[in-house]
Amino acid sequence: MTSTAFTNIGELTTNGDDGVLGDAALVIDGDRVAWIGPTVLAPAADRGVDVGGRAVLPGWVDSHTHLAFAGDRSTEFAARMAGEPYAAGGIKVSVERTRAASTEELRGLMAERVRAANLGGTTWLETKTGYGLDVETEERSARLAAEISDDVTYLGAHVVPDGWHADDYVGLVTGHMLDAVRPHVNWMDVFCERGAFDVEQSRVVLQAGREAGLGLRVHGNQLGPGPGAKLAVELGAASVDHCNFLDDEDIDLLAASATVATLLPACDLSTRQPFPPARALLDAGSTVALASNCNPGTSYTTSMAFCVATAVLQMRMTVEEAVWSATMGGAIALRRHEGELPIGALAPGSRADLQVLDAPSVTHLAYRPGMQLTHSVWQAGRRIV
Ligand code: NIG
Repeated sequence: MTSTAFTNIGELTTNGDDGVLGDAALVIDGDRVAWIGPTVLAPAADRGVDVGGRAVLPGWVDSHTHLAFAGDRSTEFAARMAGEPYAAGGIKVSVERTRAASTEELRGLMAERVRAANLGGTTWLETKTGYGLDVETEERSARLAAEISDDVTYLGAHVVPDGWHADDYVGLVTGHMLDAVRPHVNWMDVFCERGAFDVEQSRVVLQAGREAGLGLRVHGNQLGPGPGAKLAVELGAASVDHCNFLDDEDIDLLAASATVATLLPACDLSTRQPFPPARALLDAGSTVALASNCNPGTSYTTSMAFCVATAVLQMRMTVEEAVWSATMGGAIALRRHEGELPIGALAPGSRADLQVLDAPSVTHLAYRPGMQLTHSVWQAGRRIV
């Protein structure tokens, strides 16, 4: 195994016991972090990388993306910017385009999106199905997603496709379609929202996922107040995502639970939704994750730096909170923060997923929003950018 010592780190964000260190060094050995401490004490390594006073932090953990899609919805976006409200009906346009794409086309599009995410500092991402909504296309989306990610979420219950009665479609999602995708996925999700699936249908979907051995996630409280967050907590889901419309009870329940509140600020900008109550969630003690929600309808970006900047500038999160939420928060939302090779932190034993910023501190992520601040990126100890 080859070891590499990163020295002359101006600011090292560890998310671990070491906190934030100045004038620091970090040694990786193979695919994991081996040592952290002051530069002057750095042990010898096979290779040295002098980062020139730049900031180093864990790679972004993007715990919510929808990369399995073809086509774009820029016309819908333009109409929205001209005053049309967002309604999830546009999902069906992406379903049509995704069904029509060849497997090679879809695989290429997904690979391009992963590359874009890596270029922005992302070293781990979850992705999901949900633009197939028939057995064949959901299975294909799940299979291709498993080629690019170890966290694949089955979102057959995204919306009810044309020609189906909702309860019959729930039967398909929890039956034949679930059997078809099961070899490729480890999470089950449902869009629990008016216009998508109601609370009883959502419960049936999630219970079927649980019986199939899948972890649970929920899209909820995005377009209005609703039962998604409460259902997620009740069923022990790892995460409830969106959370724009939470009441006090939702916030208290989330804070007292292990369910992560995953916030998607790029989506909120693109849909002109009110931002979620990030401050109230954090102050109540809830675990908050930030994710890109890259998808063709509501958030066509893989940029976690943009999400961090927006969370700071618009949602009253501190830079430190936003960075933690986009790294460790995402890792917890995916239950990847502990185990054999944990992600989300830079601590001895964790996976060597790190990014070097072209800046001396993480503050610059919000101070210089939209600037290209990724200097270099290492994934499992290998330089990828
Ligand atoms: O997370 N909320 C549901 N799903 C996506 C949007 C899908 C779309 O409009 O294509 C989301 O925002």
